[in-house]
Amino acid sequence: MENLEELAQQMRRYIDDPVAFVVNVLHAQPDKWQEDALRAIGKNSRVAIRSGHGVGKTAFEAWCVDWFLFTRPYPKIPCTAPTQQQLFDILWPEISKWLKRSPLLDGLFEWQKTKVTMRAMPERWFATARTASKPENMAGFHEEHLLFICDEASGIDDSIYETIEGALTTKDAKLILCGNPTKNSGVFKRAFYEDRDLYWTQKVSCFDAARVTDDYSQRLIKQYGEDSDVVRVRVLGEFPKAEPDGLIPLELVEAAMMRDASMEADPDVMLDVGADIARFGDDETIIVPRIGGKVLGLFHYTKQDTMTTCGKILSITKGMMAEYAKPHATLHIDDDGVGGGVTDRLREVVLEQGLNIDVVACHNGGAPGDKEHYANWVTEQWCGLKQRLVDGDISLPQDDELAAQLSTRKYLLNSRDQIILEDKKTFKKRIHRSPDRADALVLAFSSGGSVDTSLAQLLGGARFYG
Ligand SMILES: Nc1ncnc2c1ncn2[C@@H]1O[C@H](COP(=O)(O)OP(=O)(O)OP(=O)(O)O)[C@@H](O)[C@H]1O
Ligand SMILES: [Mg+2]
Repeated sequence: MENLEELAQQMRRYIDDPVAFVVNVLHAQPDKWQEDALRAIGKNSRVAIRSGHGVGKTAFEAWCVDWFLFTRPYPKIPCTAPTQQQLFDILWPEISKWLKRSPLLDGLFEWQKTKVTMRAMPERWFATARTASKPENMAGFHEEHLLFICDEASGIDDSIYETIEGALTTKDAKLILCGNPTKNSGVFKRAFYEDRDLYWTQKVSCFDAARVTDDYSQRLIKQYGEDSDVVRVRVLGEFPKAEPDGLIPLELVEAAMMRDASMEADPDVMLDVGADIARFGDDETIIVPRIGGKVLGLFHYTKQDTMTTCGKILSITKGMMAEYAKPHATLHIDDDGVGGGVTDRLREVVLEQGLNIDVVACHNGGAPGDKEHYANWVTEQWCGLKQRLVDGDISLPQDDELAAQLSTRKYLLNSRDQIILEDKKTFKKRIHRSPDRADALVLAFSSGGSVDTSLAQLLGGARFYG
């Protein structure tokens, strides 16, 4: 009993003081902005934080989960994020990391894969992880002590927030929204503008955060400019502006990087692999495999000879075919310059080994299918990718460079009113690097080119077209 009374005292002590809880119980030292935000959630019902990458948002959210669990009787804490990876691989382990710092909390609570429960009454006292894939996932929570946590809040659909809103009825119901400000509409954006009277808000730039190295921020600024959307969203914590002559707005790219595209159920959808080839020098060789709308990875290498590159492309392709049980793959290779040698060697190996793989040689300057609207093949492919991003059926890996390259490539209209993509040389002059990651992605999603299928090779190596 004495122990219980002591425990109750501790719970009461920290009920309005999350800063002291974090310092004394979790043994963490919050950064200045984290301290302000903790104080704010102690006093307010809604807190929204937008920031650059890596400033410590998820740690802050994890502390809030632990604090609310410890200080309220029978609390419910639904936690959500746009993707399973964000929720289960990042936020959920972060909660465990801090919980285990305190022998007291570790003894009281059990951390499980999708829940953290009070050992003594697991049904009524818990935090739970729910993906933001459908509003029902956030339904059914009506408690006196309720804390909703939304990580990567820009990527969560408004329909999910509607459900959450419906549950925020009691005096001790709280809501925390944290994320990079990737989208210019929706609840997260409005929290800082139209609805800001409802929220305590904070903006955290990477420059205000001790734990982000200046190198990261400076590199992005040097390359893309302080006013570029990539720097605004990923370093400064500002919403994007959308470059007036940029072909693909960053907002579309960020949305795809926060999307869980479920793997195409259709067994007829095969593997496609795009490869942009570099040899020596600073440019990278990039290999991008995808199945349907889901990009499976972004492999990058520098300073490799073309034979090694062929080996890498084939081993990645064969590995993915085996892993996803795909009997056929299509390789889309940038055939200009050093890529030509890679295409030739790949075709040779495919033939020698009798692989069920087509090799497509792609020429950026080649003829587009739609000659009325596009000046060349590569412009048509970039526009095709943009359309798929607009349609929202693509999921991309989180990658700063890829986001930057996709969103900073410009376009023009030529004298024949055709769209023409800014050429590589001009891009390189402006940005000081090749748009290789974006180009490889575009290749992975490309159609057409000079098809030289294994069948064509068997028929005598004739190219079908191109
Ligand atoms: N005050 C702190 N003391 C010690 N470690 C911390 C602190 N704040 C954050 N961290 C650690 O720093 C790392 C990065 O923080 P975190 O993941 O919370 O950043 P983030 O803002 O969520 O990043 P992202 O923008 O990538 O989502 C994590 O390992 C986290 O545990
Ligand atoms: Mg985070």
